[in-house]
Amino acid sequence: MKVAKALIDQLETTKVLTKEEWLYLLEHRNESLSQYLFSHSRAAAQSVFGNDVYIRGLIEISNFCKNNCYYCGIRRGNPGVNRYRLSQREILQCCLRGYDLGFRTFVLQGGEDPGFRDEDLANTVRIIKEWFPDVAVTLSVGEKSRDVYQMFREAGADRYLLRHETYLRSHYESLHPNSMSWERRIQCLEDLKSLGYQVGTGFMVGSPHQTNECLAEDLLFIQRFSPQMVGIGPFIPHHQTPFAKEPAGTLDLTLFLLGVLRLMNPRLLLPATTALNTIAPQGRQMGILAGANVIMPNLSPEFACKNYELYDHKKYSGMENAEAIEKIRNDLAKIGYEIKISKGDFK
Ligand code: 5AD
Repeated sequence: MKVAKALIDQLETTKVLTKEEWLYLLEHRNESLSQYLFSHSRAAAQSVFGNDVYIRGLIEISNFCKNNCYYCGIRRGNPGVNRYRLSQREILQCCLRGYDLGFRTFVLQGGEDPGFRDEDLANTVRIIKEWFPDVAVTLSVGEKSRDVYQMFREAGADRYLLRHETYLRSHYESLHPNSMSWERRIQCLEDLKSLGYQVGTGFMVGSPHQTNECLAEDLLFIQRFSPQMVGIGPFIPHHQTPFAKEPAGTLDLTLFLLGVLRLMNPRLLLPATTALNTIAPQGRQMGILAGANVIMPNLSPEFACKNYELYDHKKYSGMENAEAIEKIRNDLAKIGYEIKISKGDFK
């Protein structure tokens, strides 16, 4: 225990650990170590963000996907999905409503939908930035060529989310079919970074076949790559995927990883994700208390949110009315935090 706590102190000071040290920490994780970590990670977040929590409005623009990831509910091979694609008008309506509610970042996320033309998405980004000059646009539409990323960037996109999913290649290959490549994923992240995006990467916690070694590799990669945002959440099985019968990732491990990510970079934009809130009723609050500083409420129309089912039991807590945001505000107030109306750029 003394050694593990000393490693947390060391992480707080130097921001990096070796692979052996990461493995030691992961293997000696327990309740008292976690509480020690959270008191430090929470203080680290507060030293940068005070009691502010940034909100990002998530708009799920399409659930068509050409990929067949074994874990994902909207994989191409799932015939049970009601496929939809939002029109530009529908996306802009979400933004108008979101802006009124106080959102200053819109996250346009979707499957890798060949029917959604890149030019059209760039155009939509251009219009959003024109209508709302004080808003940041985040894209999360998967792997594209550098040229396409550049077109999006020139259209005004500020940020891009692309989780690496897992850094250990053999593990990557056990989560994805052969048509997908680990190298391409990493290349995309490098391209995004070189184009000046604020880049978010991340991984699922407790995905099938994941070991502490996988997690150590993920943390080492994040240390090296130094992204501005990191999205992590528990793996949750979806009943119409090859991983239907696999166990979900745990709350405890997810919170622990949020804590160490916060210590690695106090300025990191770190969301308490929807998946975290799905496996635990107070997941969002617990995430904030472990060091997260971002939440991403859903701005999608109800039909979209319900059909954008990456995993089972995803809740629709739509922002159709202002009450939903009030509820979030109250939940945060109970733990001493408040929503900050701001773009919330990485500093
Ligand atoms: N459980 C949890 N997260 C999932 N994702 C996809 N499928 C699942 C699942 N079954 C995550 C992936 C992807 C992000 C958009 O959602 O990490 O990058």
